Amino acid sequence: MFERHSGNEEVVLVSIDFGEPDYQDSVEELHRLAESAGLTVVSLIEGRRARPDAALFAGSGKVEEIAAMVQANEAGIVIFNHALSPAQERNLELALQCRVVDRTTLILDIFASRAKSAEGILQVELAQLAHLSTRLIRGWTHLERQKGGIGLRGPGETQLETDRRLIGKRVKLLQDRLAKLHGQRAIQRRARSRSRVMSISLVGYTNAGKSTLFNALTNAGSYAADQLFATLDTTTRQLYIPDVGEIVLSDTVGFITRLPHTLVESFRATLEETIQADLLLHVVDAASPMRDKHIAEVNKVLGEIGAADVPQLLVMNKIDLCSSTPGIERDEYDKITAIRLSAKTGLGINTLREVISEAKKQFMQPQPEPTQLTIINNEYHPELD
Ligand code: GTP
Repeated sequence: MFERHSGNEEVVLVSIDFGEPDYQDSVEELHRLAESAGLTVVSLIEGRRARPDAALFAGSGKVEEIAAMVQANEAGIVIFNHALSPAQERNLELALQCRVVDRTTLILDIFASRAKSAEGILQVELAQLAHLSTRLIRGWTHLERQKGGIGLRGPGETQLETDRRLIGKRVKLLQDRLAKLHGQRAIQRRARSRSRVMSISLVGYTNAGKSTLFNALTNAGSYAADQLFATLDTTTRQLYIPDVGEIVLSDTVGFITRLPHTLVESFRATLEETIQADLLLHVVDAASPMRDKHIAEVNKVLGEIGAADVPQLLVMNKIDLCSSTPGIERDEYDKITAIRLSAKTGLGINTLREVISEAKKQFMQPQPEPTQLTIINNEYHPELD
């Protein structure tokens, strides 16, 4: 991980076009990611290649160009838009004489600085360890001091093996803690479903306006900022809507294209909350030129986590930015498919409340009468139920 810098660290972005269809979007996103991490982008260097160079990822002429830019701007970090191998990262650092970071590390760093809940912090550390374990070749410096510590190193064990073993131990510990927290969530969920409370999850591409909508509906003060991944942990609040009664609303982590695989894995548990919802409000930045791609990307991830069949309504947000009017869109069977509103100005929020009421009748299956929960010492004991 590269260190957090207090705002004004200057960075050079490097993106090589290998002919991927979403290339341009990913470059713009890298820019936003860097800004979200509090970095100042001084230059973007692009190139075109058929495949990455094994040693330097970019061609040697391109690397010289980057080096000149780094020198001219006294940039402290170079960020590549793709995943680099540990060897490429090391070679580039030698050639450029500054820190070299790839897209995965940048996203992990943003996640690490934003995680607030116990679960979020554990998940980020797990993802960081997974990423780190692939680049152990660089050495795990903060463990160096434990070299040769009693009981830490078996006879004949190399430093690499020791590091792997320690990471493995830590991963196991984090997984156990996560499983425990996950169990607690499941208990809360079960209690809610037994009391027939409708649960709604807000999902959507990062920066679509989920937290703003969450606040507009609950006045809960969830963190809304013009940054990618301002929300990392699932925030859940109970609220009352006339004609609907109590509902449980959850704000979830934003999605992004090419989310590092390690992060998708680590956040699977959090996103599982989404699968359990009665209704998904899929929040879309209607003013974004990339909105259709973002909708498709979110649906792809929902499919991957098994939430494709959860009823979904599109919330076309930010209509104040695209001179659209608030309203409801229906399909040929008169079922609501989308609602247009502005979470920021409040335009259309009341209509959303009406829509939720209609959706409750449409999507929520009648459930058997709730049974008494067996709570001892504030813990639920299903075996005693
Ligand atoms: P992540 O945490 O990254 O997933 O973002 P999010 O989807 O929760 O977005 P958030 O609510 O943080 O909003 C992102 C930015 O969009 C903020 O600057 C909001 O003020 C802005 N925003 C949200 N809704 C609207 C809207 O209806 N109109 C306008 N103009 N801006 C909005």
